[in-house]
This record gives sequence, C-alpha cells and structure tokens, in this order.
Amino acid sequence: MEQELVSLQTKAKEQLAAIENSSQLEEFRIQFLGRKGQFSTIMKNLGRVPKEDKPRMGQMANGARKEIEALYSEKQTALASCGKSPSQSSDAIDLTLPGRRPVIGKLHPVTQIMNEVCSIFEGLGFAVAEGPDVEHDHYNFEALNIPAHHPARDMHDTFYVSDSILLRTHTSPMQARIMETQQPPLRVIAPGKVYRCDSDITHTPMFHQVEGFLVDKNVSFADLKGILTIFTQKMFDKDLELRFRPSFFPFTEPSAEVDIACVICGGKGCRVCKRTGWLEILGAGMIDPEVFKKVGYNPEVYSGFAFGLGIERIAMLKYGIDDIRLYYENDLRFLSQF
Ligand code: FA5
Repeated sequence: MEQELVSLQTKAKEQLAAIENSSQLEEFRIQFLGRKGQFSTIMKNLGRVPKEDKPRMGQMANGARKEIEALYSEKQTALASCGKSPSQSSDAIDLTLPGRRPVIGKLHPVTQIMNEVCSIFEGLGFAVAEGPDVEHDHYNFEALNIPAHHPARDMHDTFYVSDSILLRTHTSPMQARIMETQQPPLRVIAPGKVYRCDSDITHTPMFHQVEGFLVDKNVSFADLKGILTIFTQKMFDKDLELRFRPSFFPFTEPSAEVDIACVICGGKGCRVCKRTGWLEILGAGMIDPEVFKKVGYNPEVYSGFAFGLGIERIAMLKYGIDDIRLYYENDLRFLSQF
C-alpha cells in the first residue's frame, strides 16, 4: 500500500508537470482527484490495511493527496495567467475567421460636384487657377470696380479680418489676380471656398464657387450663353431650360443672373425655388472695361465674359436636396448616400 501510494504520487507529479492547457488539467483532475479518481480509490482501500498501520497510512495518503491538490491549484493559476498555449489565449488570431471590412471614406458630395464642374470646363479648354481665401480688400472689391462706400459692398455680407483684409466673398478676385499677371487670350476657371455672413435653406456662411472667365478679341455675350448652355447640358445630362435675368455686378456690363428650371419641383414651384420654379445658380456678364483698364488691358482691343457658379446650388439640383445646410451637418447617414 505504501509503495502504491508513493508511485501514485510520483506519477501524478510527472503528469501535472507535462500539462499545457486547461482541458488536459481537467482530465488530470478527474483521473487523480475526482470522486472516482485514483486517490479516492486508495482511501477506500485503507480498510484492508492492518489496524496498527491504519493511522500512519491514513496520514500518509491524506498528505500525498493534499500535496497533489496544491500542485494542481498552482498549475491552474499558471494556465489562467500566462501559461496558456497560444491557440487558447484570448488575443489569439483565428486565421479562419472572415476579415472585417475597413470603412471606406468617400469624397464629400460638394467635392464630387466641384470636381465634375472643373472637369467639364477643362474639357472646354479652360485652365485651372487657385487663389487665397484670405484676401485683400483691393482684389475682392477695388480691382473689381467696387470702391469703398460703393452700395454693392453691402450685398456681400463680408467677414473682415482687418480694415483691408477679409475672407473673400466670391471667387471674382481671381479675375484681377490672373489678368494683372497674364496677357490675353485667357480662358481660366478658379474654384474655391468663399464666405458670407448668410444662412438659410439656400445659403451657407461658407460655400464654393467656380469663377470662369474668357478674354480675347471679339468675345460676345453669345459666347457666354453658348459655354453656359453646354455646361448645363453636360452637368445635368439633359436639355434643361436656362433663364438669363438682367442683373447688376459692378465688374460686368451687361450682367445677368442665370437660373435653371428647378429640378426639385419640375418648375411647378416649391419652398427651395421660393415658388418661382427657378433656382439661381450663377452670376455672369461681359467684363466691364473699367476692370480691363485697372489691369492694363486695352478695352478697345479685348473683350471677355465672366461667370461665378454656386457649387452647393448645383449639388442641390443634381441630387434633389431641398436644404443646403444638410451638406455641412456632417451626418454620415446623409453624406454616405453620394
Ligand atoms: C457673385 O458672387 C459674383 N462674383 C458672380 C459673378 C462672377 C458675376 C463673374 C459676374 C461675373 P452672387 O453673389 O450672385 O455673384 O453669387 C454667385 C452664386 O453663388 C449664386 O448664384 C449662388 O448660386 C451662389 N451663392 C451666393 N450666395 C450663397 C450662399 N450664401 N450659399 C450658397 N450659395 C451661394
């Protein structure tokens, strides 16, 4: 019996030392320490031991079992912390699991429309130029025939940085910037952000414009109408009616505001088109001789047209959006549709 106990204890220790994971440990527990395990069997056999040896053998058997139970607990703790095999650790990589798709970002709908507008004009031979958002009063107003105290300044709801520096209220300053450094013939577009203290369902304080201008000999208003008609056909993939309304800009003469038939209500009248059936998308006109004189062009020789498109308005029409502010609320449920 004594010999049997010693060899059981040795066998249990050896097996415990070789254990690598919790399922092997559980098998060990059942085999050695369970109700029908080998230590329980030895305890039951104590009945066969001669009476005088019983106390000593009982003590020995209890001591052996306790030692193995202590070693078993130690192993259990070791496996629970760092002793687990790599395949069982909680941060193990299961290479058979299907991969997680990364969330793919998209261009903002206004950027998409901006790119489309630019590529249409590039296809018509216009070069692209960019200028500063923080602009001198000179380029934003003076060079465009809008002197200080001119009533037209009121229409612009300007954000001033200082007396002479402001956030540009339109992309038209690029006309003066380009013309004072380059000679005709010119065919340029200038896309970018512009700023006005203005907000409602068709106005935002920051919005995008694309300025376009063409300067050459014998340019007429018919050329302007032709370019804008081709542009709207390409942009909206159909023959949409354009309406040229007489207007006033100090830097163009004659001037027009151009409306497009409201695609939201089909021209019937809705809150977006203010019940008129039309939505204004751009201002345009023949470049005023005064602007040419300021940059040193001879207005007797050269003529040209210019226009300034509102990109958000085009995006509203293209996607049937009835509130311009949605573009800037950063709601992914809205933005991810484009
Ligand atoms: C201008 O800004 C002129 N610089 C356009 C121009 C260029 C005229 C060249 C002649 C020659 P206007 O203020 O109308 O014009 O603005 C042009 C377009 O910008 C509008 O037709 C409209 O589509 C858009 N727009 C104007 N204000 C806002 C705003 N607050 N939010 C969104 N779009 C606007």
